Amino acid sequence: MSCKNAIIAILVFMVVGLLLTLNRYKQLFRQENLLSSWVIQKVKIDEFDVRFKPESQGPSKETEISFIGSFGAHSSTSDFETWILCAFAKSAQKVFEFGTFTGKTTYLLAKNTPESGKVITLTLSPEEIDSYTKSKADHEDDTKAALQESIFNKFYYSNEVVAHKVEQLFGDSKKFDTTPYLKKIDMIFIDGSRAESYVENDSKKALEMIKPGGIIFWHDYRGPNRARGVYNVLNSLSKTLKLVHIAGTSLVAYRAPN
Ligand SMILES: C[S@@+](CC[C@H](N)C(=O)[O-])C[C@H]1O[C@@H](n2cnc3c(N)ncnc32)[C@H](O)[C@@H]1O
Repeated sequence: MSCKNAIIAILVFMVVGLLLTLNRYKQLFRQENLLSSWVIQKVKIDEFDVRFKPESQGPSKETEISFIGSFGAHSSTSDFETWILCAFAKSAQKVFEFGTFTGKTTYLLAKNTPESGKVITLTLSPEEIDSYTKSKADHEDDTKAALQESIFNKFYYSNEVVAHKVEQLFGDSKKFDTTPYLKKIDMIFIDGSRAESYVENDSKKALEMIKPGGIIFWHDYRGPNRARGVYNVLNSLSKTLKLVHIAGTSLVAYRAPN
């Protein structure tokens, strides 16, 4: 290779590397692709819900919650996401969560719902992982993560004062029957398997269970290269439902019409 060709090759290599780094930076920190936005419209939390409008001295006390930070937590919500979910839980009588994992979010949701509130949480126990049924569209990484996260059958809320507010359900969400919950749930948090066929299934079931005026949150809307199932299903759902991506989080939200 001539010296000129070698210089051109090095320059091309450097430009491609720079573009890839810039793309990664934009996806991680700006929640955008290199040359375009992600599909679902990004809105600030106070544009989505008025209780988050800052007052002259800072955040409204309407959003005050019982809180434990994310340091040391695994596969769970960020501090900002926890704050948002728990502030909404304050006005929810019935919350449904797909995917309990350690039960940290379940615990905080239970702490923040009203005294008469209930949190129903569905998860796949380690004894049931054989009932997990993958589909062709599912990305291998999403399936692997779902099975690796199905390791708990004792939870963060177990033996706590709020444990009586939690109804723990075990089983594969594709086999979950929504009949007892139809249009009865005020707030739903979808955070189970991120595989496409499961996000599709969980979303369909959430839409059946949500009360008019209720709210659904999905976790892990992280762009085209991570948790691909969540990204694909939500982008497709956004063609028929008014979904918003809460800026600075991986949450997508939907308010069911009254
Ligand atoms: C990301 S973790 C949930 C984190 C939890 N919501 C939190 O905030 O700490 C995913 C959970 O989904 C559960 N899961 C995975 N596949 C499932 C399935 N097919 N049916 C029900 N739950 C499933 C896993 O067992 C795990 O508990």
